[in-house]
Amino acid sequence: MSIPSPIPGDKFTFGLWTVGWQARDTFGDATRPHLDPVESVHRLAELGAYGVTFHDDDLIPFGAAADERSKLIARFSAALDATGMKVPMMTTNTFSHPVFKDGAFTSNDRDIRRFALHKVMRNLDLAAELGAHTYVLWGGREGSEIEAAKDVRLCLDRYKEGLDFLCRYVTEQGYGIRFAIEPKPNEPRGDIFLPTIGHALAFINELEYSDMVGLNPEVGHEQMAGLNFVHGIAQALWHKKLFHIDLNGQRGARFDQDLVFGHGDLINAFYLVDLLESAGYDGPRHFDYKPSRTEDIAGVWASAAANMRMYVVLREKARAFRGDPRVQEALSVSGVGRMAEPTVAVGESFAELVADVEMNFDVEAASRRGYSYSQLDQLGLEHLLGTA
Ligand code: GCO
Ligand code: MN
Ligand code: MN
Repeated sequence: MSIPSPIPGDKFTFGLWTVGWQARDTFGDATRPHLDPVESVHRLAELGAYGVTFHDDDLIPFGAAADERSKLIARFSAALDATGMKVPMMTTNTFSHPVFKDGAFTSNDRDIRRFALHKVMRNLDLAAELGAHTYVLWGGREGSEIEAAKDVRLCLDRYKEGLDFLCRYVTEQGYGIRFAIEPKPNEPRGDIFLPTIGHALAFINELEYSDMVGLNPEVGHEQMAGLNFVHGIAQALWHKKLFHIDLNGQRGARFDQDLVFGHGDLINAFYLVDLLESAGYDGPRHFDYKPSRTEDIAGVWASAAANMRMYVVLREKARAFRGDPRVQEALSVSGVGRMAEPTVAVGESFAELVADVEMNFDVEAASRRGYSYSQLDQLGLEHLLGTA
């Protein structure tokens, strides 16, 4: 199977904080030097990426003076212009600075909540200037370690208030920006509010501008909660709330590994690509991974390229899987496509359904039938392994 090289049309994007991660962790110091965002833009462009994304603080250090801020933005914009790289998404760092240790929109300290809104508004102005259409909200510090520390219902009131306020700001400024909430069950807080796709979807329904708010689900975050990411994404698509996606790898319920895409649960990654491609998702394929702490700078670029290659490989394999007549036959035996048929016929009455079931349904025969899912699964795996 020949695997095409990544091209900007594939819409692969990377957070500046991913390749730029200096690999400082809870137990050890940085293993890599600071990486200039301008260098990242050039290197990722050379590798075939479409764009970059970033938190305010990834480009402009917290507390930088206005003239320093302008200089950094000008240099960065020049790199974008020189390479043709886009910035389709931006976000705010409301988790690193000690002021946010108890949260941002849900800190128990009102002044800190107001400061958080101010920080987001300021960066929204820059997002509009750089042409970003999606603004991610990852509330890593919104949560607690101790139940008594938070009145969760009031925290959700304040979370909603913050989002309603920001949506109104974006609307009044005329920015064409939508928000995407990124759920995560824990880390850095013991328990984070809006821990999964499902919690976030329910929360969005309660917002004043719910049309403007969707999701940015991350592979590893749902898997940390033991959930099936493909099912979560399918539901997000069903609600028309898949505004953005963070692709990476995770091996089971443990700390957030942020591995290269596909380097965690490979089977789930295969069916994820199959779903995104067949559902016509046309947003960025955004990688939110951390190059391993053991990599030097050459390894950083090799791992960035690996993310894109994994996606392209899985896309080609998913196409071959769907095009294989044996797969189509197995799908038909399994009845997968028949789910498109409504359970109740148009205009059918209750009495008609009852009469039909009582007269025609053979419960014994229906119980005996097999669904051939194992064969389907085996075909999928053989495609994945290249032995189909
Ligand atoms: C994580 C998160 C973060 C967010 C990013 C956007 O790994 O815990 O994915 O990386 O995506 O900070 O705000
Ligand atoms: Mn993560
Ligand atoms: Mn993420």
